[in-house]
Amino acid sequence: MTPAIRLHHLGVSLGTWEALIDVSLEFDEGFLALLGPNGAGKSTLVRTILGLVPATSGSVEVMGREPRAIPARDIGYIPQIKTLDRDFPALPVELVASGLRASWPWSVRTDERSKAMAALDRVGMASKAERPLGRLSGGEMQRVYLARALVRQPRLLILDEPATGMDALGEADMYRLLELYRRESGASVFMITHDWEVARHHASHVLLLNRRPVAFGPPKEVLTGDNLRRAYGHMGHSHSMELPLDDHGHHHDHDHGHDHHHD
Ligand SMILES: Nc1ncnc2c1ncn2[C@@H]1O[C@H](COP(=O)(O)OP(=O)(O)OP(=O)(O)O)[C@@H](O)[C@H]1O
Ligand SMILES: [Mg+2]
Repeated sequence: MTPAIRLHHLGVSLGTWEALIDVSLEFDEGFLALLGPNGAGKSTLVRTILGLVPATSGSVEVMGREPRAIPARDIGYIPQIKTLDRDFPALPVELVASGLRASWPWSVRTDERSKAMAALDRVGMASKAERPLGRLSGGEMQRVYLARALVRQPRLLILDEPATGMDALGEADMYRLLELYRRESGASVFMITHDWEVARHHASHVLLLNRRPVAFGPPKEVLTGDNLRRAYGHMGHSHSMELPLDDHGHHHDHDHGHDHHHD
């Protein structure tokens, strides 16, 4: 079968900054969680997969094609930062329907409206479909964007930190919804998150990235204390309490073997 995402020695430079260095992986299908510290190149990787940023070296294949050759309807995307002029006179139903078009739908057709309403219903926003976007809360806006990404029923759904601003229940709802969508449609999900527990519980695959891949595979194998330390190593000791237990049930409060702070 054709892998959903295939990266072959991918390198991406932004100006003089090497944001991604020698990233190779094959993600066949499922739920891929991408984790790594701020500035690790996560959003850059997503933007490269979408064809918004060119590869500097190596190659990217998405569902067997190079990024710019993928039909737009095959991918649903929620960017990390959703800016919208609060006074922009639009309704959620229109924003969701815009996911069906290449340009803003100044008038929404009946068939588009019913698809948009169905998508809004799935994310629990049907009752607010006609409330001006400027009056939605941050988490509500996030749900509307999720509906927009789902409305075309994409084969690959790419989400850059989708839980930001959602309340805990909304977040749990979102993972249930993604799971349901995946089961019904066979689509794959690629999600950037900072939440190790979410990756542990919901992902089939995890990529731990810090410009270079630190580890890739099933969550249980990837999310070890040692790998997280390798990916987030610069954070220092104050954060060691947050690292998960190692395989022996101990917190890794001390480095073993390669401690450079001996007195
Ligand atoms: N145009 C650019 N020129 C130079 N460096 C850039 C440019 N755009 C982004 N960068 C740098 O590339 C690095 C990767 O950025 P990216 O947005 O991919 O990180 P991220 O892993 O998504 O981080 P976060 O967790 O904060 O969202 C950052 O250090 C950023 O400052
Ligand atoms: Mg980012």
